Amino acid sequence: MQLIDADASHLAAIQAIVNDVVATTTAIYDEAPATDRETADWFEVKRAKGFPVIVAIDESVSVMGFASYGDFNKKPGYRFTVEHSLHVAADHRGKGLGRVLLEAIESRARGAGVHTMVGLIDAENVASRRLHESAGYELAGTLKEVGWKFGRWLNMCSYQKIL
Ligand SMILES: CC(C)(COP(=O)(O)OP(=O)(O)OC[C@H]1O[C@@H](n2cnc3c(N)ncnc32)[C@H](O)[C@@H]1OP(=O)(O)O)[C@@H](O)C(=O)NCCC(=O)NCCS
Repeated sequence: MQLIDADASHLAAIQAIVNDVVATTTAIYDEAPATDRETADWFEVKRAKGFPVIVAIDESVSVMGFASYGDFNKKPGYRFTVEHSLHVAADHRGKGLGRVLLEAIESRARGAGVHTMVGLIDAENVASRRLHESAGYELAGTLKEVGWKFGRWLNMCSYQKIL
């Protein structure tokens, strides 16, 4: 396994992982799959703002997962805070890759002078909550019934770590 910065050649695989998460979980509150254009625009914003997109690839250069971060809030007073995200392909989950990606994105954030990392995690997402708690993230609070997907209300847990 290798961690590298994503380029345009990884976007189709990133999109496939995201769209599987969208279709099968409440980890992302989207209901429709991301289009090629939306994925390209997302990547362009990351590139333009200097935000990292790290992919974990295997020996055959297949993308097993990715991590990134972006603005927590666009107002200038929030510029030392980022909101991160990470997703591992279904057949690679539970093998430690999420932890590796979280550590990698944190390390990039430290290098970029980020002070606070925020993860907004659906309350039902036991794996992500467990991962973040064991990596030193604190539950700052839970926003109840702010999301709606699969015909039910969803609660959003705000996790944070001061780097
Ligand atoms: C959440 C996710 C990123 C975790 O990555 P992963 O590679 O599966 O997790 P890891 O194998 O690195 O495990 C990390 C920790 O979570 C725990 N964990 C992993 N899967 C778990 C599960 N299904 N239930 C409970 N705990 C779980 C592990 O025991 C480990 O805890 P530890 O460090 O205390 O031993 C991954 O499962 C995923 O992409 N899920 C779908 C999309 C998603 O939820 N993304 C995150 C959005 S906030």
